[in-house]
Amino acid sequence: MTENSIKKEKKNFLEVKDLKKYFHLRGGIIDTLLSREPEYVRAVDGVTFNIKEGEVFGLVGESGSGKTTIGRLVVGLEKPTEGTVIFDGIDLSSLSNEEMRKLRRRMQVMFQDPTASLNPRMTVGEAVSHPLQIHFPGKKANHRKMMEEHLERVGLSPASYFVNKYPHEISGGQRQRVVIARALITTPELVLADEPIAMADVSVRALLLDLMVRLKTELNLTYLFITHDLATAKYICDRIGILYLGKMAEEGNLRDVYSKPLHPYTQALLAAVPIPDPHQRRTEEMPEGEIPNPINPPSGCRFHPRCPIAEARCSEEEPFLRELLPGHKVACHYAEQFLE
Ligand SMILES: Nc1ncnc2c1ncn2[C@@H]1O[C@H](COP(=O)(O)OP(=O)(O)OP(=O)(O)O)[C@@H](O)[C@H]1O
Ligand SMILES: [Mg+2]
Repeated sequence: MTENSIKKEKKNFLEVKDLKKYFHLRGGIIDTLLSREPEYVRAVDGVTFNIKEGEVFGLVGESGSGKTTIGRLVVGLEKPTEGTVIFDGIDLSSLSNEEMRKLRRRMQVMFQDPTASLNPRMTVGEAVSHPLQIHFPGKKANHRKMMEEHLERVGLSPASYFVNKYPHEISGGQRQRVVIARALITTPELVLADEPIAMADVSVRALLLDLMVRLKTELNLTYLFITHDLATAKYICDRIGILYLGKMAEEGNLRDVYSKPLHPYTQALLAAVPIPDPHQRRTEEMPEGEIPNPINPPSGCRFHPRCPIAEARCSEEEPFLRELLPGHKVACHYAEQFLE
C-alpha cells in the first residue's frame, strides 16, 4: 500500500451495467424440435451498480435472489447473457481467456464454505501459496516467505505452527482465515466475499469481520460483500444494494437505507432483523409468502404479490430504479409516501 494509492481520487472501480444472466432450463435442441419457447431461470435480470475504489458494497437479498450469480459475473467466472462488467476501466467481455486469467489476480474470491473450498489433501501452507504458483510461477524463492507473512497477517500465528496442518486439524474459524490468506496473497484489489462468515461459529463471526475490515484498510482493498444478513451488512458495508428476484429493489449509503428504507421489501427485511433486547418486540414480520420462482417472475413489480402497499398498477407496470434522494435509489411506484 502506498501513500499515493490512498490519496488517489475515488473513482468507479467496478461498473456493472444492466447485467443479465438467464440459465437455460431445458435443452435448447429439444425446445427447437418441439417448437416451444425455451425456459430460463432469470437469475439476474438487469442489475446496475458501481463500486468506488476502497468501498465495501454489500449485495443483500434472500436465498435465490441472484447474489452469487452477480458475484461470479463480476469476477468473470460466468459470462453474462447481456450487460457489461467494467473493472478498473476494462470491459471484461473484451478480454481473451488468457487476459482474463491474468486479470483474475487482481480480483479474488472468498467463498462461504471453507471446508468445500479447501482441498483436504493440501496443507495450510500449500493451499495459501497455491495461487502464487499459478500467478507468479517464476518467483518461487519468495513463495514461502510470502505465505508465512500472510498466515501471520490473518492471525494464524505463529505461521510455523499452521504451515503443515491439514484443514481438518484446525478450527472452522481458522479455516476461514486460511481462505482469506489464500485470497489475499496475490495482492488483489477487488475482493468478492460471498457470505464469507456464514458458516463460522457465531462466536468468531465478529472477529472475522474485524479482520476483514482491518485488511481492507491495510491493503487498500475494495469489497463486493455478499450476504443475506442485514446485521452483517450493517457492520461492514459502506453502501448496499437490496436484491429481489434478480433485480435491485433499493440502493444507497448504508446509513440512508437503514434509517429511511424506501422500498417495502427493505422495510420488511429490516423489521425482521432479530432485536437483541428481549424486552423489545418486533413490530412486523417478514413479508408474507415465499420468494417467487425466477423462472416465471410476477408481472410488473416482482414484489407485488408480497407487498403490503401494492396497488393495481404494481402488477402491470414495472418500477425502475430511480434516485429519490441524493444517492438513494428505489424501484417502487409508491415510495414517495416514505419520504416524510
Ligand atoms: N448454473 C445454474 N443453472 C440454473 N440455475 C441456476 C444456476 N445458478 C444459479 N441458478 C438459479 O439462479 C437463481 C439465483 O441463484 P444464486 O445462487 O445467484 O442466488 P443467491 O442469492 O446467491 O442465493 P443463496 O443466498 O442461496 O446463496 C436461483 O433460482 C438459482 O436456482
Ligand atoms: Mg449464494
